[in-house]
Amino acid sequence: MKQINNSHEMQAFARESCRNGKSIALVPTMGFLHEGHLELMRRAREKADLVVVSIFVNPIQFGPNEDLDCYPRDLKGDLDKCQSVEVDIVFTPTPKDLYPDHFQTSVAVSDITKVLCGTSRPNHFQGVTTVVSKLFNITLPDFAFFGEKDFQQLAVIRRMVVDLNFPLEIIGVPIVRESDGLAMSSRNAYLPAQERAEAPAIYQALTYAKELFSQGNKNSPELCQTVSEQLNQNIKSDFIIEYIEIYDSLNLTQIKDTILAPATILIAVHLGKTRLIDNLQL
Ligand code: PAF
Repeated sequence: MKQINNSHEMQAFARESCRNGKSIALVPTMGFLHEGHLELMRRAREKADLVVVSIFVNPIQFGPNEDLDCYPRDLKGDLDKCQSVEVDIVFTPTPKDLYPDHFQTSVAVSDITKVLCGTSRPNHFQGVTTVVSKLFNITLPDFAFFGEKDFQQLAVIRRMVVDLNFPLEIIGVPIVRESDGLAMSSRNAYLPAQERAEAPAIYQALTYAKELFSQGNKNSPELCQTVSEQLNQNIKSDFIIEYIEIYDSLNLTQIKDTILAPATILIAVHLGKTRLIDNLQL
């Protein structure tokens, strides 16, 4: 496994690999890797000749009062984990490399970035689409892998790839959960013991809504209300529900009344100081 920390070297390597007929799979990450990331890497390994993992805590996707400075990092551990799933290249650029002085270009997807997480994180998705475009241009992948935990991010990136004719396939990978149901996330590391113990209530509440849906309740506001009630019953720590909404799984439009199309219930909760997101296909 090779580590490359400079975008020119990375791009030269990718161009040379393309010329030699090698396919490339990219797994973009912000590091502090967990089993969810490793699953993306395993899927990438099956799909392409070369697997590139990028590790970059992207400053422009964090808001002014968010957790950029304390975002968990563990490069040594991350490199070991990448090696264990036979990654070929770990790309670890610096902020200065990706955002040199006078940097002033961005990539923005409009409507679907304004809902759900976009309401409380107004510039977040523009930061994501800008860095992901750069990573695509630097690593020249044939395939790029993203987790379905960030359901909206995946939809935004798919939209961008279609709209801007990026010549690659986006592959979404199902959420990997802890044994108690909590969706894996680097941010779970922030949770103190009591909150960590109560966090699985989020997935349990979504699962309960799914059960009601399969028993015939197709009413979107009612299902969302049930999830909120479940959380209020089962979480004793301080928490704030940012949103519980049901969206058409394919075009990311909100379903405000009867659910007639394939739908996904999405949630963002602040549990203590930690913002957690999750979703479940109904
Ligand atoms: O999902 C993430 O970890 C990040 O948003 C991504 C896609 C690596 C862009 O920084």
